[in-house]
Amino acid sequence: MATNEFTGRRALITGASRGIGRATALALARAGVAHVAIHYNSYGQGAEETLADLAALGVTTSSFQADLTTTEGIQSLTSGVKASGEQFDILVNNAGSLLQRSGLAGYSEDLFDRMINLNVKSCWFLSQAVAPGMIERRSGQIIHVSSIAARNGGGPGATVYASCKGFISTMTKGMAKELAPHGVRVNAVSPGTVDNHFHEVFTTQATLDSMRAATPAGALGTNEEIADTVVFLCSNAARFIYGQTIEINGGLFMI
Ligand SMILES: NC(=O)c1ccc[n+]([C@@H]2O[C@H](COP(=O)([O-])OP(=O)(O)OC[C@H]3O[C@@H](n4cnc5c(N)ncnc54)[C@H](OP(=O)(O)O)[C@@H]3O)[C@@H](O)[C@H]2O)c1
Repeated sequence: MATNEFTGRRALITGASRGIGRATALALARAGVAHVAIHYNSYGQGAEETLADLAALGVTTSSFQADLTTTEGIQSLTSGVKASGEQFDILVNNAGSLLQRSGLAGYSEDLFDRMINLNVKSCWFLSQAVAPGMIERRSGQIIHVSSIAARNGGGPGATVYASCKGFISTMTKGMAKELAPHGVRVNAVSPGTVDNHFHEVFTTQATLDSMRAATPAGALGTNEEIADTVVFLCSNAARFIYGQTIEINGGLFMI
């Protein structure tokens, strides 16, 4: 069998029961990694489908379930990962959600805390759990998932979500500086509007149509377009890219 830079590598992708996470798990498997561990929350059937597709690609698999909106869920995932003894060369902190659209006046403290736990805190503490092995081996890739919302403040009722993604983009820079001397590269991808379950839940068709019309590429994004960029960032071709947040949005927002 042909070998390449991904041969023998082990990856952990959160939120891989569907969408960008599932596409990323499969893209990394196609790129040649040996083992893919996935995390999911509520969509067990989707997780099973991802695991079956991964097995069909010839990689070994494992899975973790956790609701990352709670401190207990975050601790359960981080302690589960540590207890598994699995050593990961690639971590993709992808799980995230808008949870609920709400403006300033009606925003509850509970929603605020759940938003931060899922979209910020889980990424920091899972990185904390996985990074020591990477540092020991002086090799690793951590990819976070930001959003175009970090650049534009988000759509209606999405201010706290957008702010979480702004945190992710800034955290990516700081974490990249801290881990670079240890041989670990940290970067992020920032999707624009991806035509998937996320927007089926949170965005009307009329809004999606207007976003498509405003996008120079003339199309909404796909899960695979984000996944391909993650694979690139994990590859040797990206070996001098550190702390960057790569915008993938068909030209909808240019920095
Ligand atoms: N879609 C877009 O246009 C877009 C744009 C910018 C950024 N993003 C970001 O891209 C990432 C992936 O989203 P997606 O577009 O692929 O959305 P998606 O299709 O809805 O998938 C979201 C994934 O996150 C997991 N997740 C959601 N709530 C969770 C919770 N409470 N605890 C643990 N995991 C949870 C889901 O798990 P279960 O299904 O198993 O519950 C699922 O695997 C997110 O960080 C999102 O913020 C998306």
